[in-house]
Amino acid sequence: MTAYRVFITGAGGMLATALLNVLTPVFDVTAFTETQLDITDRDAVLKTIKDIKPDVVVNAAAYTAVDKCEEEQKTAKLVNGFAVGYIAEAVKITGARLFHISTDYIFDGDKDGPYTEEDKPNPVSVYGLSKLIGERELVRFTDNYVIIRTQWMFGENGKNFVDTIIQLAEQKDELKIVDDQYGSPTYTRDVAVMIKWFIENSNVRKQIFNFSNEGIVSWYGFARGILKLAGIGTKLVPVDSSAIQRAARRPHNSALDKTKIKQVTRIDIRPWYDALYEYMKRTGRVGE
Ligand SMILES: NC(=O)c1ccc[n+]([C@@H]2O[C@H](COP(=O)([O-])OP(=O)(O)OC[C@H]3O[C@@H](n4cnc5c(N)ncnc54)[C@H](OP(=O)(O)O)[C@@H]3O)[C@@H](O)[C@H]2O)c1
Repeated sequence: MTAYRVFITGAGGMLATALLNVLTPVFDVTAFTETQLDITDRDAVLKTIKDIKPDVVVNAAAYTAVDKCEEEQKTAKLVNGFAVGYIAEAVKITGARLFHISTDYIFDGDKDGPYTEEDKPNPVSVYGLSKLIGERELVRFTDNYVIIRTQWMFGENGKNFVDTIIQLAEQKDELKIVDDQYGSPTYTRDVAVMIKWFIENSNVRKQIFNFSNEGIVSWYGFARGILKLAGIGTKLVPVDSSAIQRAARRPHNSALDKTKIKQVTRIDIRPWYDALYEYMKRTGRVGE
């Protein structure tokens, strides 16, 4: 098998950690953290990608603090938006294939049912808007891309809902959790495995694919699953989004329709609860 040369940006992040675990055993991987390559530095992006000459670039860098994006609009749009264009410009010059990660938050969440790749984006937050700018910047420069839109990720080495809930549940007797926002929790490892599949098995280009684990729940339902697996008895109280003050609005329904990725890859996507079990098992949090 060809040892593809793969370059990963944002190497310190949660998804990048999974990508490193999954891709390093099979490909020739170079991964740069923000300190090694700030993707908002256009000259550095062009130089780095020209020097490394990767076959594949996976952009796992992003400004992901959704609420902070509301006040840091400029940074959000630069990192999540225009810098994606710099990477696309670089791969256009070197001929590399670009994998970019986008989000359910580009949608307003008002659809009655899961969003397909063709549905019209209408972000309701600065983060969502900045990620949409990223998708649009990318397609201005290259045709050789795959955009994976995913959601509600959890995984090793990142700030995520699973770790937060376990931590809070250990400190408090009762937790209020939003029960009117729906999506599919998704393990970073499964996203990384999907990207590996595309690198090895398919030359599709100029495509957007939705990907998440199977099953749709509210954050409350997700939290119940987490505490059940952890064996923690803290009381969970379902509440509406309006009961919890947050700077950024979130979509009520942001479930993603995965028909397209299933047809192309034929990969059996596992339920979020099974993926959650694996994550909690690996990180030693499954209770007796
Ligand atoms: N997490 C989710 O639920 C979710 C859902 C849908 C889509 N996504 C998308 O999935 C991708 C990966 O997300 P993640 O959860 O792995 O995020 P993450 O853990 O926040 O990782 C992002 C990484 O990018 C780095 N970074 C920030 N600004 C940068 C810059 N200017 N140049 C280079 N690196 C920079 C961050 O470094 P510092 O931490 O040092 O700033 C961090 O290591 C992102 O595109 C995100 O939008 C995430």
